[in-house]
Amino acid sequence: MNETIIRCRLAHFQDGYSSWDNAFQYLDDAIVVIKNEKIDKVIPAQELSKTTIDEKNILDRRPALMLPGFIDAHVHSPQLPMIASYGEQLLDWLQKYTFPAEIECAEQEYSRLQSENFIESLLRHGTTSAFIFTTSYKHNTEDIFNAAHKRNMRIIAGKVLMDRNAPKALLDEKDGIHDSRDLILKYHERGRLGYAITPRFSATSTPEQLHAAGELLKEFPSVWMQTHLSESQSEISWTKQLFPDATDYLNTYETYGLHSNRSIYAHCIHLSESEIKRIADAGSTVAFCPSSNLFLGSGLLNIEALHDAKVQYALASDVGAGTSLSMFKTMGDAYKVNQLQAYSLSPLESYYSSTLGAAKSLNIDAFVGNLAQGKEADFILVDARLDKNISTRITDDTNIQDELFIYMTMGDDRIIHETHVAGKVVYSNPLNQNLFNSGVKH
Ligand code: GUN
Ligand code: ZN
Repeated sequence: MNETIIRCRLAHFQDGYSSWDNAFQYLDDAIVVIKNEKIDKVIPAQELSKTTIDEKNILDRRPALMLPGFIDAHVHSPQLPMIASYGEQLLDWLQKYTFPAEIECAEQEYSRLQSENFIESLLRHGTTSAFIFTTSYKHNTEDIFNAAHKRNMRIIAGKVLMDRNAPKALLDEKDGIHDSRDLILKYHERGRLGYAITPRFSATSTPEQLHAAGELLKEFPSVWMQTHLSESQSEISWTKQLFPDATDYLNTYETYGLHSNRSIYAHCIHLSESEIKRIADAGSTVAFCPSSNLFLGSGLLNIEALHDAKVQYALASDVGAGTSLSMFKTMGDAYKVNQLQAYSLSPLESYYSSTLGAAKSLNIDAFVGNLAQGKEADFILVDARLDKNISTRITDDTNIQDELFIYMTMGDDRIIHETHVAGKVVYSNPLNQNLFNSGVKH
């Protein structure tokens, strides 16, 4: 039997509660038993003597803090090499930088290496699950699935559907839906993989393509649907021109059967009250992409309005408009976006929206999102000693919520000591070596 036992601090949200503050659990000294890819037991270390666990078999990782692996609700794999593209807002940024970067993935060897690098980068940043837009290319989507499958990761990805308003090299001809179906048959529910039908946004699909995407969703009700919605004012006006019969932007998806509790809409910054209500009624998820919204100057999402309307949201990096794959940095940007609107996003809400809250809204909480018994063992160990300024900022008086807030404000991949996927170490920080040789005490 494959078993690992780790001693560390631990913070997560427990199942069965209605709000993040009730659900939050912190153990300052825990023993975590991982068996056959799953969390088998979490016990307070004080209870160790009551168990049959042999202390010799315990990996002592104190003072590291175990957190569930992060979930990134919206990210574009081919855009990792074009982060930090200067000077444009959404529609010009797409034309000038994004589409050319995606065309690079037409080349088979580039696509394979870039996909491997993307998946490795997610793990280095502590992200163990993600909802990924690849490119229009089928082989590129296969490369992402294969790179994730090799590491036994729970990811959901989809080939981007576009049949107008993009460079010819990226446009689907007759085969976009056909390719999506092939990919569903080959990858959806293979191991931990899942498929999301992925029309980029209404502006780059004809009504015929959206209709065909809706039909495909009917044929495979367990796949997801991911797209963009209401990100910038010029995008909204353009969409109105392209779909003159639609009552609003959301209606372009509703009309074609793409609006459900398995729909994930990135951005949603400029929604009308009616759109917010229809998203709440359907139980769809808003992917909140604060770094991207600041970088492209798209606007400020109002989280309080989503709470009031009972809309579920999950945090997302949206690389490459987002400027980092780090969910710590994403949480830090979410805090700043909300401060600008006089709402102080709590650290608990931020971590919830990147772990269990995200998993629940995205319908993957039966498998991941926390460290409860029976969940797949996807977690990270965070060690403040990996960054001098962070470790200085944390003192003996820092409580767990303040510590989490410091990580989301100052942290990134540097403080990730290890990432584990399905019970296996898939990333170990090269600086760990210094940590354990330096004589620094717990
Ligand atoms: N809207 C349509 N495509 C994209 C994209 O690639 N990134 C962002 N941020 N918005 C989009
Ligand atoms: Zn996006």
